[in-house]
Amino acid sequence: MGNVAVIGSQWGDEGKGKIVDWLSHRADVVVRFQGGHNAGHTLVVDEVEYKLSLLPSGVVRGGKLSVIGNGVVVDPWALISEIDAVQAKGIEISPTNLVIADNACLILPLHRDLDQAREQLRGGHKIGTTGRGIGPAYEDKVGRRAIRICDLNDQQSLQLRIRELLVHHNALRRGLKIDDIKVESILSQLREISHKILPYSGSVWRILDKVQRDGRLILFEGAQGGLLDIDHGTYPFVTSSNTMASQVGAGAGIGTSAVNYVLGITKAYTTRVGSGPFPTELDNEIGKTLGERGREFGTVTGRKRRCGWFDAVLVRQMAKISGINGIALTKLDVLDGIGNLNVCTGYKINGKTFDYLPSSLVDQENAEPIYEVLDGWDESTKGARSWEELPATTVKYVRRIEELIQVPVALLSTSPEREDTILVHDPFS
Ligand code: GDP
Ligand code: IMO
Ligand code: MG
Repeated sequence: MGNVAVIGSQWGDEGKGKIVDWLSHRADVVVRFQGGHNAGHTLVVDEVEYKLSLLPSGVVRGGKLSVIGNGVVVDPWALISEIDAVQAKGIEISPTNLVIADNACLILPLHRDLDQAREQLRGGHKIGTTGRGIGPAYEDKVGRRAIRICDLNDQQSLQLRIRELLVHHNALRRGLKIDDIKVESILSQLREISHKILPYSGSVWRILDKVQRDGRLILFEGAQGGLLDIDHGTYPFVTSSNTMASQVGAGAGIGTSAVNYVLGITKAYTTRVGSGPFPTELDNEIGKTLGERGREFGTVTGRKRRCGWFDAVLVRQMAKISGINGIALTKLDVLDGIGNLNVCTGYKINGKTFDYLPSSLVDQENAEPIYEVLDGWDESTKGARSWEELPATTVKYVRRIEELIQVPVALLSTSPEREDTILVHDPFS
């Protein structure tokens, strides 16, 4: 028995929320370790839908401890409104089942301003961010001028921290022709929210140390996906954090040996929201059908997700970089009746063949997929809960994907509902 890290192996929205919720019945603690409320994780339990952005997807089950680690950037207003929304659906959330690392950095309204102003300035070259201030907040973190949750405890030092932060931001704002901000304005905004956030703050590394010593199990919940990783993704069309399993240690305050199994959540086709290279994108009827059947609209921004064929090259690359031990293959049901299925096994770039995606953006944009054509199936896989219920052709598709990505399937998902899941190999065992 060991701890499991769940991460996205494509461009996000692979179905991490559903799988984390499903797996969380085995875990005692669920920990977010990077990202922020750019994440949108949807869970469906007995036809009730829960949309989570900052709260770990384990909150929906009673009796679990949910943890927001120091690697997450926390917008306190977004967090409080998410807690309120989840509580309105009858889920209990209190400092006894939710802890936020006191050393986590805050997202402030000025980060959102900057994110949106920069996107505006890019004109036709937008990153397509979620506009939540994620990038600017991480910039302030590494720039050593961020406000952290623990700073909310002391008004005098908080004022000093804000002053330092504003030296940087007001200079930028002037350049962008946005009004200056006064120290007092941020101070009073934070004063209003502090008493709601501080009761949840705690020393996460100590809590996780105790959890481990007590032999309790941890599930680490990644946000975004490997291809949005700041180092290994399709830079600069990425998010501003490391999304790989190796981020667990730094973002939760735990040793890397605490991760015993890395589960890569993988969609049976590919989607991406926002701009950037996407070699197997389908700008045709099939792409439209995948989008409609898969309900491919962003949870956070409502934007239409771009859709394309399964890209085995990219998933294999992410599996190697993140050390994925097994995948959960989701949304298989969306491929029912689509016809023959293309799977990308390599690229042609300027006449040369590649079995990986090179780092250069120019190469990535010029990558033409090389496809292997696999048989599709007409039967319905929707709601299947065992291997035996899957058509032989579906099984062949899954087996071929395993070969191409060089990683076995641990779980399969056949609908948004929690229990419409097939267990092949238990990641905790
Ligand atoms: P996440 O960001 O990785 O948690 O994924 P999202 O929640 O943003 O997007 C996945 C979407 O697909 C959600 O609406 C899920 O309810 C839905 N979903 C998850 N697994 C399946 C599946 O196996 N089949 C279908 N049809 N939908 C699924
Ligand atoms: P989950 O956890 C899909 C994308 C944005 C944009 C880029 C940068 O639900 O899988 P950001 O706001 O992070 O600076 O935007 O990253 N992006 C996501 N795409 N799923 C997500 O999260 C994403 N979080 C960010 O669309 O292209
Ligand atoms: Mg999502």
